[in-house]
Amino acid sequence: MELPHFLFLLLLLITTISLPLLLLLILRRHMWCSCQVCTAYRTSSWARDFPNLSDWYTHLLRASPTQTIHIHIIRNTITANPVVVEHILRSRFENYPKGKQFSRILGDFLGAGIFNVDGYSWSFQRKHASSELGSLSIRNFAFENVKSEIENRLLPLLTSFSGSWSRGFDLQEVFKRFSFDNVCTFSFGFDPGCLDLSLPMSRFADAFDLAAKLSAQRALTVSPMVWKIKRILNVGSERRLREAAAVVKALAGDVIRNKRKLRFPGRHGGDLLSRFMDCVRDEVYLRDIVISFILAGRDTMASAMTAIFWLIKDRPEVVERIRNEADRVIGCSDKAAGATTFPSYDQLKEMHYLQAAVYESLRLYPPVQFDSKFALEDDELPDGTAVRRGTRVMYHPYAMGRMESIWGPDCMEFRPERWLDRNGKFVNQNPYKYPVFQAGVRVCLGKEMAIVEMKTVVLAVVREFDVTVVEPSSNIQFDPGLTAFVRGGLKVLIRKRSDAGPNNGDDDI
Ligand code: HEM
Repeated sequence: MELPHFLFLLLLLITTISLPLLLLLILRRHMWCSCQVCTAYRTSSWARDFPNLSDWYTHLLRASPTQTIHIHIIRNTITANPVVVEHILRSRFENYPKGKQFSRILGDFLGAGIFNVDGYSWSFQRKHASSELGSLSIRNFAFENVKSEIENRLLPLLTSFSGSWSRGFDLQEVFKRFSFDNVCTFSFGFDPGCLDLSLPMSRFADAFDLAAKLSAQRALTVSPMVWKIKRILNVGSERRLREAAAVVKALAGDVIRNKRKLRFPGRHGGDLLSRFMDCVRDEVYLRDIVISFILAGRDTMASAMTAIFWLIKDRPEVVERIRNEADRVIGCSDKAAGATTFPSYDQLKEMHYLQAAVYESLRLYPPVQFDSKFALEDDELPDGTAVRRGTRVMYHPYAMGRMESIWGPDCMEFRPERWLDRNGKFVNQNPYKYPVFQAGVRVCLGKEMAIVEMKTVVLAVVREFDVTVVEPSSNIQFDPGLTAFVRGGLKVLIRKRSDAGPNNGDDDI
């Protein structure tokens, strides 16, 4: 063997052996904090006492004098302190972007969509999206959409399950399909028709689900190297992610091209895509924008609607007050004639108790339980916590909804009244105390729409049906992911209300 060849092989051998060793050393340094919290994190021993990681974090945050903690092995600072939340989301917003780490995790799926970018691209999309979402016509379009999906699909489907208490079904699955149909019609003007349980989920919905799930799983690997290497080799979950993302992008691309062909200049169908087409020419960018909207508005809605039915399951008095309020504002529904009375947009705004119930449910079960940023530069938080650049800084709406220091000693109780003043009018709270929709500069753009949709769905269901939750029977456990979903779903029994006549009880708000 020639000398250069031999030297090359020797070098290759040394690199092959030393690289993994070096990697192990680095990981060991980070993963070897032996404090109690880091040990519990590393060994998952917290799971012996808490049903979910978020419940353990809540426990730690409650015990912390600053309401901020740091988990060394994952370089993660977590806070439930409203003053710190305001610091991150508003006062020092520019120091706490989503960051490249986050963008890389979701990049193959979301590309340059609003959810996944910072800087100019984010502000461009935010500016256009907020003027579109704020417009009266898109608000009406969204509202009509929801009403039609409820009337033509949701209620008939639920009716088909009622009649006999023996036909249990997963309400969370129904809401997932409902919100997918809804957000696709809103974003694309394209109806995937998923809310037919006899049909498999559409190829688009399936691929979307898988891509979102596998992207979220990237964040759970011990080191980003793990998924990056799998990605280069195109194996396992990374190969499936690549395939699922390709299906989503191809179908979204088809929808865009078809719309372009059918479109008359100056006239659009009211959906978000048509509106963005007026100001964005680049097809890939358009596709990314719309995919982000689907992600933003789909799982969050399904999770939120599932949670409220879990919370009101043992609270007949809350259901009764919602029904009474509706009867007062819109009149009694004539169920004998089979008619469903939907509230108008303005009537919905008058339903303060319903609004309070929705906010209260989101307080205890926020669909986005935690949200991360990455510190660009060293900083000191208002509670004195030092933050090194590159640290992941997380605010935790789930824990915040359970802090006595924020909501008082009855913080674990579902009590819509805490949102009402003495006259029964809904009163909003400081958004940094309640960052369920984030808050500050990047506050959720679909917040109003989400509240209207939730109110409409909850009202339509409780006016028509009695719902009994069968499973889970006690604690809720969540699946890990970007959005909180009940592990195993929410199994319910449903019965059409027999007392269809006018409600005689006085509405006492
Ligand atoms: C209960 C339902 C919803 C909840 C709890 C919720 C919550 C959130 C949260 C926490 C964020 C910040 C995420 C982050 O930056 O990492 C966010 C952002 C966003 N949401 Fe929502 N959302 C809901 C429904 C919707 C709906 C229905 C839409 C629109 C159709 C929507 C559109 C958006 C958009 C566009 C952003 C990105 C804003 C930006 O980065 O500037 N959301 N939402």
